Amino acid sequence: MRRRLVAGNWKMNGTGANLPELTKLAQDHPDRSCEILICPPAPLIHRAAQVAQGSALNIGAQDCHAKTHGAHAGDNSVGMLADAGARFVIAGHSSRRAPYREKNADVLAKTRAVMEGSLSAIVCVGENLAERQADQALDVVARQLSGTIPDTATAQNLVVAYEAVWAIGTGVSATLAQIGEMHNFIRTRLEQRFGPETGKAIRLLYGGSVKPTNAAEIFAVPNVDGALVGRASLRAADFSPIITALDAA
Ligand code: PGA
Repeated sequence: MRRRLVAGNWKMNGTGANLPELTKLAQDHPDRSCEILICPPAPLIHRAAQVAQGSALNIGAQDCHAKTHGAHAGDNSVGMLADAGARFVIAGHSSRRAPYREKNADVLAKTRAVMEGSLSAIVCVGENLAERQADQALDVVARQLSGTIPDTATAQNLVVAYEAVWAIGTGVSATLAQIGEMHNFIRTRLEQRFGPETGKAIRLLYGGSVKPTNAAEIFAVPNVDGALVGRASLRAADFSPIITALDAA
């Protein structure tokens, strides 16, 4: 049985003034039926982890450098993020891939670093609009899966997030049929590569305009084990109902 996971990515939003949102989330969800994760901006990780201590909330990071240390001004190693209190690191989010020209090989190096640092990687895959319109979505995602996930992946250190780039931050999520097709495809690929046991146990999240009004129907799609949520994770009033929907799914 895969433990469901709902992850919030605050992206470059929020300061210490937003930390009370975490306190509200923790109060709203004292039990631990699904796993809850918030990835705040790096400067907030330490304080967020303190707020989350002893609650059902986990704290993660939005990105990392692939190296353990060195002259990389402005970057954070996995060791630093873990030291600050992160338990998960997102790798290959679309807001890093295109703007920073991160290729699959770069995402692979980061994913490896996360696993070597004993944290769990949330690897993001997903096609852009031109690729979807050209009927290349499955091919693109297949290449991303084989190009970004190392052989050392397990159900403990890997989560895969399918996020159609055209559905992120647009308010328009992928259709349930598109989500179902892609999640089945990813599940099959993982089973082929890692064997049925591990392939069935790796969690698959959907991301892209998940909100309180569409969460329940998305969570009912087979092979959707939770969500990676951007905008709707910033306020407990929006994120809480999504967590409740996953608990009920
Ligand atoms: P969104 O972002 O929920 O604001 O569409 C999703 C994501 O980027 O993970």
